[in-house]
Amino acid sequence: MTGKILDGKLFAAQIRGQVAEHVARLKGSHGLTPGLAVVLVGEDPASEVYVRSKGKQTVEVGMASFEHKLAADTSEADLLALIAKLNADPEVHGILVQLPLPSHLNSDLVINSIDPAKDVDGFHISNVGLLGTGQKSMVPCTPLGCLMMLRDHHGSLSGMNAVVVGRSNIVGKPMAQLLLGDSCTVTIAHSRTSDLAETCRRADILVAAVGRAEMIPGDWVKPGATVIDVGINRIERDGKKALVGDVHFESAAAVAGAITPVPGGVGPMTIACLLANTVTACCRANGLEEPAGLTA
Ligand code: GUN
Repeated sequence: MTGKILDGKLFAAQIRGQVAEHVARLKGSHGLTPGLAVVLVGEDPASEVYVRSKGKQTVEVGMASFEHKLAADTSEADLLALIAKLNADPEVHGILVQLPLPSHLNSDLVINSIDPAKDVDGFHISNVGLLGTGQKSMVPCTPLGCLMMLRDHHGSLSGMNAVVVGRSNIVGKPMAQLLLGDSCTVTIAHSRTSDLAETCRRADILVAAVGRAEMIPGDWVKPGATVIDVGINRIERDGKKALVGDVHFESAAAVAGAITPVPGGVGPMTIACLLANTVTACCRANGLEEPAGLTA
């Protein structure tokens, strides 16, 4: 028996469809075009690919895309000045500063200079605090995408044992907060967890976000569990380049009740949720009702 494959590519396309409908309504009824500004500092090839993809999908759903590409040696003062300008620009509803930043820039300082209402990444300390206290916030895109997939598959998550492997600010910690918000019993595990295999085996919902290729084998998965694989690792296998997750897919799929593939699982959901967050930010900024189903 193989678990159900949770198709993130298909689900993300549906979300983009819903976003496009909301954008059309905002334009038609209110003369508003949601706008997303993406700031890229330097020339990291992976980041350039993401930024291009974000810009393309932003335009495809009918929103305005503002791309700011800055030289790798841009000063902190210049970057902060650009963010201040975007904070004040009424046509910009969402601001994303692509991470990682070059090492001479203080990422925390830069992220916390973004207007929290425009922080579509949900990384600003205000949004982190709001999420942690169960208040309305901007929610980080990757965990939001995972939550949407889990709700879509299970309906209610109430009372389930969820194990999140990974404690990053971008995925692990906000994922745990969202699962707690949906009344799961949540464990945050990580590379120093003393018996990681046994901890994982208790999970009804297992979220892998450690960034280590195929670290979680099938015999760490509880039979029937739902496995969400956030990892995107580039490896070489049989002399060929391959993209794999943090979970060993073949062995895990044989015992899981449901599992996300890599690629085509969580990955496509991230940008779809970024677009959703931008529409949400635009609605909030204008005192309009937020789109249902696109927020946590
Ligand atoms: N780099 C890798 N993932 C992300 C993300 O979700 N947001 C930003 N801003 N940078 C990233």
